Amino acid sequence: MRLAVVPRERAGVTVSELLERDMVVRSAKISKRDGDVLVPVNAAGEEHAANLGLTVVEGEVHGRKDESPQRIVARLLSLPEDRMRLLPMRWEFVGDVAVLRLDEGLRPYEAEIGEAYAKALGVSSVCVDRGGVSGELRRPRIDLIHGESSESIRLENGVLYKLDVRELMFASGNNDERARMGSLDCGGETVVDMFAGIGYFSIPIAKHAGAERVYACEKNPVSFRYLKENLALNGVEGSVTPVLGDNRDLPIAGLADRVVMGYVGGTRDFLWKGFELLAPEGTIHFHDTYRVNEMPRALERDVALAAGGREHEVASVREVKSYAPSVSHYVADIRVYG
Ligand SMILES: C[S@@+](CC[C@H](N)C(=O)[O-])C[C@H]1O[C@@H](n2cnc3c(N)ncnc32)[C@H](O)[C@@H]1O
Repeated sequence: MRLAVVPRERAGVTVSELLERDMVVRSAKISKRDGDVLVPVNAAGEEHAANLGLTVVEGEVHGRKDESPQRIVARLLSLPEDRMRLLPMRWEFVGDVAVLRLDEGLRPYEAEIGEAYAKALGVSSVCVDRGGVSGELRRPRIDLIHGESSESIRLENGVLYKLDVRELMFASGNNDERARMGSLDCGGETVVDMFAGIGYFSIPIAKHAGAERVYACEKNPVSFRYLKENLALNGVEGSVTPVLGDNRDLPIAGLADRVVMGYVGGTRDFLWKGFELLAPEGTIHFHDTYRVNEMPRALERDVALAAGGREHEVASVREVKSYAPSVSHYVADIRVYG
């Protein structure tokens, strides 16, 4: 069996990432040796581990009887039969934290369920997503049912994102778009990220796309605190300037080669500011939700209204994810020429 040797201080992030990417042989046990964690990996995991600079060795492992996480949970829990059927089959990882949705009928058993899923998924903490968000700052309705902390670090596309899932949302459906932002060629550019959050787009742009300067604006003080921490974690404090406040108050105009508007639910009302921030020529990455049957006309109409006569082209429109019945989250790349 091939085993990735992960130093214990990196284990939280790396093991979660390998699990998330289905690179761990789940029928074999993860074990500890000296200061390292030994993770049984498949071929993709072996390659990925090597890319992360980890050693991969041949070694003996104890079997886990070829059990899926669901079967491990079923073995660990003894709930009434009609409750067992309600157990979730899906979950999300944010680093070392798994987030589940639980049927109301399972509420009395949450503590045992949390412990069983932590063991089966190999995470330290388990949270339950009660659905929806609350308050002006859109705090997710998430509770910790197992473990000490809901704060963790997610490694995605070579970027570290630290956050507390009880305080902030992490939209795993936006993964492709975060990767796309990191793959752009922004060499020498000035970029303004109007809705920076914890650095979802600002960091890949600064770290991988070669931007010279990124202004990352965020109005929620909790997100802003993580944004600053994440800039340091990723070593991009030198090229990203975090700005706390409402992006409509940014006292800059006509300076950005690229503007990122990564927010949904009325982003069209901020498009005028996106155009104002942009240099005479440049690109706006504009996100918002639209009715599927009104695309792309509705989006093009909003862009034309905000452009105020500036020459532009909606160069591409991509569906990021489904948002509600008949409504999707889209991102448009708008090129402005004058
Ligand atoms: C949650 S992020 C969007 C998700 C992200 N694009 C991803 O990949 O997961 C959007 C951020 O915009 C911030 N925001 C909303 N309105 C704002 C405004 N007027 N000025 C600055 N930041 C704002 C919110 O606080 C939030 O942190």
